[in-house]
Amino acid sequence: MTTQATEEVARTDLRGKVVRGSFLHAPEPDWLESLSDALISIGEDGLIQAVLPADHAGHESLLASARAADRLVTLTGRAWMIPGLVDLHVHAPQYAQLGQALDVPLEVWLQKYTFPLESRFADLDFATEVYAAVVTDLLAQGTTTALYFATVHQEATHKLVDLCLAHGQRALVGKVAMDDPAACPDYYRDASAEDAVDGARALIDYVRGHPDNTEGLVWPVITPRFIPSCTDAALSGLGSLARETGCHVQTHCSESDWAHGHVLARHGVTDAASLDGFGLLGRRTVLAHANFLTDDDMERVRARGAAVAHCPLSNAYFANAVFPLRRALEKGLHVGLGTDISGGHAASLFDTARMAIAASRMLETGVDPDLPADRRGCPASRIDVVTAFHLATAGGGRALDLPIGRFEPGCWFDALLIDCEAANGSIRLFGEVSPEDLAGKILLNASRANIAQVWVGGRRVAGAA
Ligand code: GUN
Ligand code: FE
Repeated sequence: MTTQATEEVARTDLRGKVVRGSFLHAPEPDWLESLSDALISIGEDGLIQAVLPADHAGHESLLASARAADRLVTLTGRAWMIPGLVDLHVHAPQYAQLGQALDVPLEVWLQKYTFPLESRFADLDFATEVYAAVVTDLLAQGTTTALYFATVHQEATHKLVDLCLAHGQRALVGKVAMDDPAACPDYYRDASAEDAVDGARALIDYVRGHPDNTEGLVWPVITPRFIPSCTDAALSGLGSLARETGCHVQTHCSESDWAHGHVLARHGVTDAASLDGFGLLGRRTVLAHANFLTDDDMERVRARGAAVAHCPLSNAYFANAVFPLRRALEKGLHVGLGTDISGGHAASLFDTARMAIAASRMLETGVDPDLPADRRGCPASRIDVVTAFHLATAGGGRALDLPIGRFEPGCWFDALLIDCEAANGSIRLFGEVSPEDLAGKILLNASRANIAQVWVGGRRVAGAA
């Protein structure tokens, strides 16, 4: 059964429309805003033109003009629009092993399962099958923007770009650079540092020159896998390319004891300091994990305006520690959430947000019952639902330096319609609920059936038919 709310907006592109209904967003970690009977006007370009709360002076006249021009779309029933979710760390090829292969530490997992899987993306048919599935499945689960690692293969990475454009997902895509023969197998690496840098440049040219990408839906990303898999020559060349092109950069940073220790032993400094030295730490850099950042590292990341993709599910398997999220936020770092498919076992950013809350609570209390309570945990580490909601939306947008994740003029209209009455859903509302309780019901209880519709830049990209 679909409710009235979903029927009215089903299959509707919202470019050029005015949506009347209830909206819930978290523009800041401690600011939840609920707008009832508000109007959001969306331009033909997919950008939000105006957000008018019910008591706004212009509300009546916009309502009347939208109605007269047949541009009004009204939400009814217990349905709310929330911003589309921003996943800051996805390995698109690893979607093939989601929910598998999590029985060994990171350094073993890479060699035993992940490099063999990723090497199969030399086969374009296999790549197409997996990439089509990950793009459509993530959209259906509410991920309107994804920051993707692909593989070393140029053609398959082009295919991922093509599929994001075809399905309408906002995406940032990187061809993985990994050239160090000491760390990468012969069957799966860039042939040389020069090849790694040329490959990154070729992808940038492909994305920027793509005939279907005139609106800039997809962005190219410079993607050194992590320091252990790259030679200094490759890191240095990629840093120069980042400066030259202004592209986003993504990499793994101080993820586990092993990864962190590898860089300390090789470069005598932490990952963050080393990346900075190579010119790879800038406003558009996203560091996946960053669990072992020192205070100096945090200050460096903050000063550069770089961001952390917090991946709490994956960290449970590989990190050997819990990322001090609250501390990073208090120090002013940009932070968002990442599923880290397939280091994390779930593709849903809802699941990731739930784990972010739970991990922060476990960090706060500690986990070893043999320790006395006052020595068990790290006080003041918890985050609440509003902060998690922010991280999954506006925080991710800020991390990427893109106008997404909030309902504000000038932002892209990337949104989910959450139907709290979906018969097969898992949200149940009893009586009136406060905005904070509603945020909890949605963030903690929603399942796929509750995600009634999904829009990217005002275009409907997923949802019930
Ligand atoms: N470090 C280097 N590569 C990877 C990867 O694919 N996943 C995770 N979680 N960490 C990595
Ligand atoms: Fe990862």
